[in-house]
Amino acid sequence: MSLLSLFKGKGPSGFGYGSTAEEVTEGIDLSGRTMLLTGCNSGIGLETLRVLTKRGAHVIAAARTVDKARAAGDQVGGETTAVACDLSEPATVLGCIEQVKATGRPLDAIICNAGIMALPKLNQKYGYELQLFTNHIGHFMLVTSLVDNLADKGRVVIVSSEAHHQAPAEGIQFDNLSGERGYTPLGNYGQSKLANILFANQLAKRLAGTGKTANSLHPGVIHTNLTRNMNPVVDVVMSIGAPLVLKSIPQGAATQCYAATHPSLEDVSGKYFSDCNESRPGRHGRDPAMAEKLWEVSERIVAEVTA
Ligand SMILES: NC(=O)c1ccc[n+]([C@@H]2O[C@H](COP(=O)([O-])OP(=O)(O)OC[C@H]3O[C@@H](n4cnc5c(N)ncnc54)[C@H](OP(=O)(O)O)[C@@H]3O)[C@@H](O)[C@H]2O)c1
Repeated sequence: MSLLSLFKGKGPSGFGYGSTAEEVTEGIDLSGRTMLLTGCNSGIGLETLRVLTKRGAHVIAAARTVDKARAAGDQVGGETTAVACDLSEPATVLGCIEQVKATGRPLDAIICNAGIMALPKLNQKYGYELQLFTNHIGHFMLVTSLVDNLADKGRVVIVSSEAHHQAPAEGIQFDNLSGERGYTPLGNYGQSKLANILFANQLAKRLAGTGKTANSLHPGVIHTNLTRNMNPVVDVVMSIGAPLVLKSIPQGAATQCYAATHPSLEDVSGKYFSDCNESRPGRHGRDPAMAEKLWEVSERIVAEVTA
């Protein structure tokens, strides 16, 4: 627990900045529930895997390779199924979708947790900027293909970031999805995290009336492998600062565990959470026209890269 946790209070949910994933799921029995989690092998994803299985859930644990997913499952020891899902490789996303469908288990939650941040130079896959392609398009493809496999009250939880505020001034740069007309490591990360929020909002709209929900969230700032692409000095500063001002990994995993499991959120959809409480994203994150356009463009990209 960081020093900062001592000064931050709790919000209306009864939880707050300092709450851990174990605390927000205390007393929730997830036996018989199945949840799909991306990025299960590292950082807040690994902690999410540990806590959801501790509460009795069967977690379909997705990682870039099946070996990584299996190792994560072995590490936490609960009931897991390991699947490969490299979000930047549509063929493996399709393989993951098939494997999930083949289990025949309705999904009580899909937690889109995997992500990459601040690649120093422009990287592309299939002609698209890699952070957007991995963090948004990969998850868009996964979730939209599995919507029919969601349980009656199934929840889609998309891990975004307050870094969405760093997206370009106009929001999603629809005329620069390749990144070739301008790229900055944090601006493009911000754009991908804005896309996460807009996707959750538009999905929530489409799911309205079905009992299924979609929400997005900021997990906090936590020292994990996410900074691996940044200047090593940032990593050193973060590791020194972590005990003082950053969330711990158990605290960082709390908001997604809360959004995926807490009974009070059964009918809550289209919201953005931070510190285990409802929050408000930036202006673009509340723009329905941008969300609608992103959905159309994302469908087009998925069709193109899977043709
Ligand atoms: N840490 C923070 O301060 C912070 C703040 C705001 C938001 N977030 C968000 O929280 C989420 C989890 O991040 P974290 O901090 O736990 O970072 P992390 O320790 O680096 O974990 C990221 C996970 O995503 C996986 N991943 C990366 N590229 C992938 C790909 N192409 N296909 C499938 N999986 C891929 C990684 O797999 P490998 O291990 O194989 O690379 C890893 O399992 C991310 O969405 C991030 O944007 C984090």
